[in-house]
Amino acid sequence: MCGSLFLSPCATLFGLYYIMHALSLLVLIFSGMDRSKQGNASPEDHELELNLPNLLLTKTVRELYAKIVKEWDFLKKSACQTAAGRALWKHVIHDPLADVLAGETYLRNLHEKIMKDRHNNAREISGVILAVRTLWFDSKIEAVVDSLGGAAQVVLLGAGMDSRAYRLSCLKESDVFEVDFPEVLQVKAALLEEALESTEHLRLMAKSLTRVAADIRDNDWLEKLQISGFVPEKNTVWVLEGIIYYLLNSQAMQVLKIVGEKCTLTHTVLLADFMNKASTTLSSATFHFYSDWPDHLLPSLGFSHVKLSQIGDPDAHFGLMHDPLNLFNKLRNLPRSVETHPDDGTPCCRLYLVQASGSPNQTVSLKASSQRSI
Ligand SMILES: C[S@@+](CC[C@H](N)C(=O)[O-])C[C@H]1O[C@@H](n2cnc3c(N)ncnc32)[C@H](O)[C@@H]1O
Repeated sequence: MCGSLFLSPCATLFGLYYIMHALSLLVLIFSGMDRSKQGNASPEDHELELNLPNLLLTKTVRELYAKIVKEWDFLKKSACQTAAGRALWKHVIHDPLADVLAGETYLRNLHEKIMKDRHNNAREISGVILAVRTLWFDSKIEAVVDSLGGAAQVVLLGAGMDSRAYRLSCLKESDVFEVDFPEVLQVKAALLEEALESTEHLRLMAKSLTRVAADIRDNDWLEKLQISGFVPEKNTVWVLEGIIYYLLNSQAMQVLKIVGEKCTLTHTVLLADFMNKASTTLSSATFHFYSDWPDHLLPSLGFSHVKLSQIGDPDAHFGLMHDPLNLFNKLRNLPRSVETHPDDGTPCCRLYLVQASGSPNQTVSLKASSQRSI
């Protein structure tokens, strides 16, 4: 999704596609593959005129974005790229803050990609993975919070420009914690202050929102979370969206271990997206941690139930994956043990959407069922 961050055109998967710097970017990694006509839902023409909100043109907001462009590395900037995806897929995602959290540069970059894809009748339109991923996390958060009685804590690791605390009414009894680098959280807070001042109907939906400045590669992030009010004994939903594959293997395993250990204390649910090995090789400088079998890995870390979905599966579809010949439908119909596509020998790059849960007595009443995909 980050047009300005193209590395080089270097791989083919049902045609030409590109290597990007962040996963938001799987969106583009997987776009532009097959240029034949198809029927997947994509932003409508009239919705694709890029109308920037006036707020983006104000002096304060421009200055904040100048700081992002000048000072942030690609990892922090990926937060704006995913927000741009939510903003430009607004026909399926309700995120009224996404425009202002994305910023003009990222909106323009992605907008250009979408227009090109549409012009070329691409089978997969840039941003579609992000749209499905967002909707999958939204639906799972809602279902899990509901099944835990509404008052679960929700911790977003690598929260970036996520605005769920302002847009999901299911969080009304939940204490939400957003963990990210201090620079990201500071700019986000300043942008939100501007947005909330200028728009009457926007307000916090969650019971509370606490921002926790921490690097989850460090040993002290959990302590910082607890100092900020997180209660380890309270039912918790951990949201790791677009974050885990940026970490080195040992760092990612440590984070997953810390979360898994919470299953011995309380109802614990992990919602996360995992890359398989082939996906990380698309940009080995950017992506590190992978798991081809997260449904085998997570039980070894304390989770008793694991459900794995792939883009296009019945719970990861959202009406955006009608075309049986699109990349995702082809991939999910291949056994997961298959590493290269039988048609053309290209690597099977997969993104797994995973819900894992556990509790002290291991009798989680969540609907999550243990399911091993093909
Ligand atoms: C691709 S963005 C995803 C943001 C958000 N979860 C979403 O889906 O829109 C990745 C986010 O993870 C944050 N991040 C990456 N590494 C991190 C680390 N070691 N500690 C804390 N945050 C990190 C980045 O700053 C960025 O905001």
